[in-house]
Amino acid sequence: MKILVTGASGNVGSHVVKELICLGEEVIAAGTDLKKLHSMFGDKITAAEFDFSREETYENALKDVDRVFLMRPPHLGKPEDIYPFIEALERHSIRLVSFLSLMGIEKNKIPPHHKIEKRIEASGIPYSHIRPGFFMQNITGLHLKEINEENKVFIPAGKSRTSSIDASDIGLAAATVLHEPEKHRNSAYTITGSEALDYYQVAEILSDLTGRRIIYTKPGLLQYRNYCIKERGLDANLIN
Ligand SMILES: NC(=O)c1ccc[n+]([C@@H]2O[C@H](COP(=O)([O-])OP(=O)(O)OC[C@H]3O[C@@H](n4cnc5c(N)ncnc54)[C@H](OP(=O)(O)O)[C@@H]3O)[C@@H](O)[C@H]2O)c1
Repeated sequence: MKILVTGASGNVGSHVVKELICLGEEVIAAGTDLKKLHSMFGDKITAAEFDFSREETYENALKDVDRVFLMRPPHLGKPEDIYPFIEALERHSIRLVSFLSLMGIEKNKIPPHHKIEKRIEASGIPYSHIRPGFFMQNITGLHLKEINEENKVFIPAGKSRTSSIDASDIGLAAATVLHEPEKHRNSAYTITGSEALDYYQVAEILSDLTGRRIIYTKPGLLQYRNYCIKERGLDANLIN
């Protein structure tokens, strides 16, 4: 039987696919952009067109599948956007669904991951939630523009510290539980990087590495939100 990887072209999903292939698993890599999937993975996978908002794409993607890596695309802001797919999983014999969740979600009801976890648990499908801290790829992705162009780390994190984790480590964790589903049935794993740093320290490290003076400007939440939506034209759901 095969493993369906949603968000297979994404930061984490791409590593889940690579690790599962290394473990000798048969992978169906799913997404809305088949060309991208073929160019990333060639003939090592079967690519399936899959869109959370188009239920008619579910059955083909789930053919011969008994395990699923489930991620919520960042622009799908409502938990209800993912429920129809969980309902489709209930109609299949799924041995494990590993959901890409979020560190601290068990105590934080605001992000959609909280309700998605609860919905999966209520479905009766065996699950293993992966709850990572912030991705290292936030720095090299979303926040890179201000670092490169303005020498500033522009993140509304106050003085708090985060233990960033690399997406490749998250992908390895998800692939590990999917490879041994019975061992990880009905579990939740919080995973982090090895060190908790505040963004003043992150700016210092970036300054040392680049030889430039990079500072953390500690923007407020609204300031950050307005900048991202108005200046950068980013999706409001993603920023929220
Ligand atoms: N960034 C962090 O610090 C952090 C920390 C903890 C948890 N998370 C969570 O991790 C998740 C994001 O993971 P990521 O960074 O790996 O994602 P990502 O790199 O942003 O990739 C998004 C993926 O979603 C797919 N996608 C987009 N629209 C879709 C649709 N309508 N139907 C099906 N697939 C669709 C895309 O593939 P196509 O283009 O082929 O459709 C792509 O593979 C979010 O739920 C986020 O909350 C993030």
